[in-house]
Amino acid sequence: MCGIFAAVSETSVTSALVGGLRALSYRGYDSSGLVIAQHSGLQRRRAPGKLEALSSLLKEQPLEGFVGIAHTRWATHGAPSETNAHPHMTPKVAVVHNGIIENYSLLKADLESDGYRFNSETDSECIPLLITRNLDKGMTPEVALREAMAMLEGSFGIAVIFASESDTVYAARLGSPLVIGQGATGHFIASDAIAMASVARNLCMLEDGDVAKVRVNEMSITNNAGEVTHREMKALQVSEHDQGKQGYRHYMLKEIHQQPEVVRNTLNHYCDNASFTLKDEMFPANLERFDRLSIVACGTSYYAGMVARTWFEKYAAIPVEADVASEYRYRESPLSPNTLSLFISQSGETADTLAALRYTKEQGLSCISLLNVDTSTMAAESDSFLRTLAGAEIGVASTKAFTGQLMVLLLMALRMAKASGRLDIAAEKAAIKELFTLPVGLSNVIDQLASMKSIASSLVQSEHTLFLGRGTGFPLAQEGALKLKEISYIHAEAYPAGELKHGPIALIDEAMPVVLVAPPGPMMSKTLSNLREVAARGAKVILISNHEGIELASEHITHAIEMPDCDPVMMPVLYTLPLQLLAYHVAVLKGTDVDQPRNLAKSVTVE
Ligand code: G6P
Repeated sequence: MCGIFAAVSETSVTSALVGGLRALSYRGYDSSGLVIAQHSGLQRRRAPGKLEALSSLLKEQPLEGFVGIAHTRWATHGAPSETNAHPHMTPKVAVVHNGIIENYSLLKADLESDGYRFNSETDSECIPLLITRNLDKGMTPEVALREAMAMLEGSFGIAVIFASESDTVYAARLGSPLVIGQGATGHFIASDAIAMASVARNLCMLEDGDVAKVRVNEMSITNNAGEVTHREMKALQVSEHDQGKQGYRHYMLKEIHQQPEVVRNTLNHYCDNASFTLKDEMFPANLERFDRLSIVACGTSYYAGMVARTWFEKYAAIPVEADVASEYRYRESPLSPNTLSLFISQSGETADTLAALRYTKEQGLSCISLLNVDTSTMAAESDSFLRTLAGAEIGVASTKAFTGQLMVLLLMALRMAKASGRLDIAAEKAAIKELFTLPVGLSNVIDQLASMKSIASSLVQSEHTLFLGRGTGFPLAQEGALKLKEISYIHAEAYPAGELKHGPIALIDEAMPVVLVAPPGPMMSKTLSNLREVAARGAKVILISNHEGIELASEHITHAIEMPDCDPVMMPVLYTLPLQLLAYHVAVLKGTDVDQPRNLAKSVTVE
């Protein structure tokens, strides 16, 4: 969602600010803007739409200076217009804000009664107005900022510059992450470490309640209690770099192709490739003491949890509940002390998943997370966390992070099976050895699916699609439907194939293509029966199955995507590929914005 980038440098910061916003644009946004401190005062440029609009404006009306703040806004309060775009400012102070100010209506009424006028519909504008009122009372900039922060309820990460202190940027955090980077020419502030790659080598994370005062050559941080504090500077990790599209047309396509490498890295991280055993020390200790597992996540991460539910139940005989975080946190489900709570999140910042984690911690339960960003808030707040080794994922539609999550969850299921005595050493070695063949298997499937375009073209004109599957095929169908609707804007609904006759079959006619996920196994013949039922009612059928499945249903299939035979344990990872590529090619043929689909954000940091 919204992105913050700020700079205080020996050289003009304008291009660094625009570059920082560009690096953050993958998070999703619908307007952008910046303010630069000049001798004549604070100067602002803002534009609705894509960053190109801001760049064009800056060409027409250039702005240079050594201190500035910038923002990409994803609209919550008020339309994505220029007036609502950040920074919000008065002649004395300018602010960019991520998060939500929950008591803004009260603050607004209070400020308006004192004669302070709002120009936008945003909650954020109350921050510069509160600070200005404090400055008008004679407070110093730092005190004015602290006093304003004390009045805010909700969550925020903010960067602030003052007309009267034009060599300084302030950054403050309560809930929404902020990092400070140290570079050759000065200091930089961003809501996401990924924006630091081209300007800084070392960075530190602010903690909740921190206020940082940042100049070219100095930085001081005070904590919640107003005491001077130290936050450790760490070298920027390679995984935090956005390394560009590397010749691919879209990040999403690059990230699909990176999946064999992600799987290989994951296996090498969690397994010994000489003995084909799990590295037990890479997993949380005392797993055997838990008799239930609760998985909580959102979006694609939730579907990874749904696939993994089958693995935990099958291999470790652990009953699993999987919930979407936005429901779980308000459900007040009774939690038993022997339950291990597992939170899955690519970003580690998703507001609902984070709130669910905090809720569970308050209940005194053990909380572990599975995350792709080591420096995220969830990493800091979980009892421990497991890493996915997907590297920076830029495409809004998650692909390689999903595969990475599946791999770690599978290995964790095996680890729990081992801890409870259900997986002996021979079975462990056999399973891990098989898994080491997966990267090559994935590469082969990606090569075989190069011709997916013709199948995709059959969906381009469709307004609706139905995805069906059973067992792990059902969450895969859900993930496939999610991918398609996210990036092609075609309505896609996923159903357990066994529920077809309890409703969705009423939708079937010639205009409703059906994508069936039917891997070999005990449920294949039942899924193929459902295939015949939809085909008999005129549906065009795209079947994803092995040679045998396709032969069995050949007369009813419009398009077949043939998958290699594989060990059932690897099936969900392999069968993910055609679903991702189908959605990708449909979106490309429709000409949508594949990497930054409309209205979507990569990291959903508000409820
Ligand atoms: C957004 C993203 C999805 C992601 C979901 C959960 O909806 O667009 O790609 O799966 O958030 O995000 P998380 O970072 O918690 O995995």
